[in-house]
Amino acid sequence: MKQFGVGVVGLGLRGLGTGMVDYMHNPDEGLFLVGVSDIKPEILAMFKNKPFAGDTFTSTQYQDLLDCPEISAIFIMTPDFLHEEQAVAALEAGKHVFLEKPMAITTQGCDRILETARRVDKKVYVGHNMRHMELILAMKSIIDSGSIGRIVTIWCRHFVSYGGDAYFKDWHAQRKYVNGLLLQKAAHDIDVMHWLGGGYTRFVHAMGGLTTYGRALDPSKREDYLKAESRVTIRQFSVPENWPPLGQENLNPDMDVEDVSLVNMVFDNGVFASYQQCHFTPDAWRNYTFIGTEGRIENIGSSQIRILKNRVDGYSEGEILRVLPPAGGHGGADPRIVEEFIGYVRDGKKITVSPIAARQAVATGDLATQSLRGDMGCREVPQLPADLIDYFEKDLV
Ligand SMILES: NC(=O)c1ccc[n+]([C@@H]2O[C@H](COP(=O)([O-])OP(=O)(O)OC[C@H]3O[C@@H](n4cnc5c(N)ncnc54)[C@H](O)[C@@H]3O)[C@@H](O)[C@H]2O)c1
Repeated sequence: MKQFGVGVVGLGLRGLGTGMVDYMHNPDEGLFLVGVSDIKPEILAMFKNKPFAGDTFTSTQYQDLLDCPEISAIFIMTPDFLHEEQAVAALEAGKHVFLEKPMAITTQGCDRILETARRVDKKVYVGHNMRHMELILAMKSIIDSGSIGRIVTIWCRHFVSYGGDAYFKDWHAQRKYVNGLLLQKAAHDIDVMHWLGGGYTRFVHAMGGLTTYGRALDPSKREDYLKAESRVTIRQFSVPENWPPLGQENLNPDMDVEDVSLVNMVFDNGVFASYQQCHFTPDAWRNYTFIGTEGRIENIGSSQIRILKNRVDGYSEGEILRVLPPAGGHGGADPRIVEEFIGYVRDGKKITVSPIAARQAVATGDLATQSLRGDMGCREVPQLPADLIDYFEKDLV
């Protein structure tokens, strides 16, 4: 069996905390985690406790992974503002790249990664793991069957109870590191809406603001925050006792991203879409509604889809489809996405998410963010050259 070596840059919540590294070392399948890098030595020490970590080298310098000839592909799981620089460096070093979402924090950053990957002829693949979630696949299957007709409009309400803990206590809270949470968080949902809606956003506008967590800040606690932040290894985001939101402590005193956003989009195929994100709801889930010419579907939580195909002039629950997620992180999506990436770069298999789609999600979030911070007016997503789209989309299933 062909042996294939990989490396990981960034072992925080995503790399280590959600267990992504666990899917990257499988000698029976010829897959070897050769090296990992994180700037925090204590994180590298935590990694070394993994039962399979014995032969994996660690370094605080990611360049050591790029210089290693046994590593053919790099997983980049660092904060968003580093994605562009590190992806370009890895591609230039001759490595294939798995890049966490969002692809970059600007549209131009995404385009630079795409151009580099084409020039050096190496693969770039973005971690839109929601494309592997059973719930999303089931909704896509209903839409593709044509049973609710042609999709006309899509709405997504995104409730984020853990927003204060996950996004307002560290780098996620600052524009210079994420641009805005419409890229950091909504990149997933915009991508799902694009994929199931069969198009990409052409026009977008948005409204929103930092409405609540800014009011929970106590300026006299700035020094306490800086001390506490330097002690964090992997952040805890599931802390239900941190409630209500205005009682949150240890918030990033330099926060300048929005905690409420409302976005409207028109796709290039005429679909009208809408997305709302709030970071201080009591509950945490996404509610997608796809409305077609012959019915609508809507998910309730992560395991139920309501299918409504008959007119009733009042409330109807519709038919309920129950979805059972398989084992593994993010409802089984994490092992699947690692497997798809390895199959792509090692075995030449086809993939379900192209970096073009990842770029379009960032471009939409980027322009929505510019709109809500500016005149709240409409922005047009810059088009990519057709030959660049063809270059990447030929690899799609
Ligand atoms: N697809 C998903 O479901 C999902 C879930 C969570 C996070 N993410 C993405 O993963 C990325 C990381 O997020 P996170 O929550 O793990 O953040 P995090 O802050 O918990 O972890 C980032 C890690 O990168 C390390 N790091 C920073 N600079 C580095 C450098 N120059 N070289 C090596 N390591 C460096 C940090 O020390 C930290 O351990 C983000 O882009 C985020 O959007 C994706």
